[in-house]
Amino acid sequence: MQKQAEYEKAIKTKYPEPIVIVIAKDANGKANPMTAGWNTIVSGSPPMMAVAVVPKRHTAAAIGHSKCFTIAFPSTDMAEEALFFGTKSGRDIDKLEVTGCKTEPATKIDSVILSDATANFECELQTQIPTGDHILFVGKVVASHINTEPTKRLYTTAAGGEMGPAS
Ligand SMILES: Cc1cc2nc3c(=O)[nH]c(=O)nc-3n(C[C@H](O)[C@H](O)[C@H](O)COP(=O)(O)O)c2cc1C
Repeated sequence: MQKQAEYEKAIKTKYPEPIVIVIAKDANGKANPMTAGWNTIVSGSPPMMAVAVVPKRHTAAAIGHSKCFTIAFPSTDMAEEALFFGTKSGRDIDKLEVTGCKTEPATKIDSVILSDATANFECELQTQIPTGDHILFVGKVVASHINTEPTKRLYTTAAGGEMGPAS
């Protein structure tokens, strides 16, 4: 049985929510990582992924500029970095340099991949769709990578940015 509830109350049942780190190079060529909870696979063949970004974020400008982005699945070891990438803007700082987050060059796009992530997907921007207060950036996956070591994917486990494994 269901009872009607306010949207704000009902949506809090979504946790654990898988998070990704979106990385795009800005107009100065700086690779900028941003944590995003609003992400999804939108096609299997060809593989495509989408992420919803607030228009004023440095990341929205960076994707608009470079027309490509990496989607990294952070591992549970990356909780501190994920919080940092999700609370500081690349407009002001170099988030990768400040955190010392290990990167490798992307192979098919002008971006980087995160060495300690569970997986990385290189995406070419296909389309962008305004959606209320976000822009949905849709990318075609042109290269995929997985960690050579066993890792667990990082999730947001509760409202307020609490992070950890799904269970
Ligand atoms: C767990 C978590 C999930 C987030 N999800 C999103 C998201 O899906 N879309 C978005 O635009 N911002 C999201 N944010 C906020 C951005 O990551 C944050 O504003 C960041 O500082 C923007 O960085 P930038 O200015 O370098 O782009 C999230 C933050 C956290 C901590």
